[in-house]
Amino acid sequence: MRLAVLASGSGSILEAILNAGIPVSLVLVDRDCAATDIAADHGAEARLLDRASFGADFDRAGYTDLVTAALTEAEIDLVAMAGFGTILAPSIYEPFGGRILNTHPALLPSFKGWHAVRDALAYGVKVTGCTLHVATAEVDDGPILAQEAVVVEPDDTEASLHERIKAVERRIYVETLRSILARGSVAETTEEPVT
Ligand code: GRF
Repeated sequence: MRLAVLASGSGSILEAILNAGIPVSLVLVDRDCAATDIAADHGAEARLLDRASFGADFDRAGYTDLVTAALTEAEIDLVAMAGFGTILAPSIYEPFGGRILNTHPALLPSFKGWHAVRDALAYGVKVTGCTLHVATAEVDDGPILAQEAVVVEPDDTEASLHERIKAVERRIYVETLRSILARGSVAETTEEPVT
């Protein structure tokens, strides 16, 4: 399966995937970010599809068409969103439905959204974590592939807690991608259940 990783930030999850020796056919970023340098350091092809706007005038449908075209052109079978900061329009789930993964720094369905770590801390939870799931048109939703808890320490800041969560995200993303690539499909079974 040809894998693409979509990133926007520091790219530490991308780096963990590359360090694990998982072949990445395309790294796609939506802005200037460290993930591009990480791809270059590992000899992975990186493509910048620059977002023209972060405002209300952002053409989400048009941008999604560009992403879909880039993935199709690179003959991508599996897409791993790893800190990708653009919500893609539902149209991408027509060609790639069931084949786009996402990681979220909270135990879904709790604390959806961009500030999941901050929101969990503000709520005062004692345990949070991360979730690797199949992405759907509904943001931070979709079948859960892996999930792990992280204990909140009394002196945690958003940054310290997020860093411990990301350490788990890096590990479970690598483990899950390895399993998917080994069996050649996201679904754990392709057989009809025996009745
Ligand atoms: C992860 O916590 C991910 O769940 C969130 O952004 C972070 C990405 O980290 N959406 P990095 O850019 O891979 O270091």
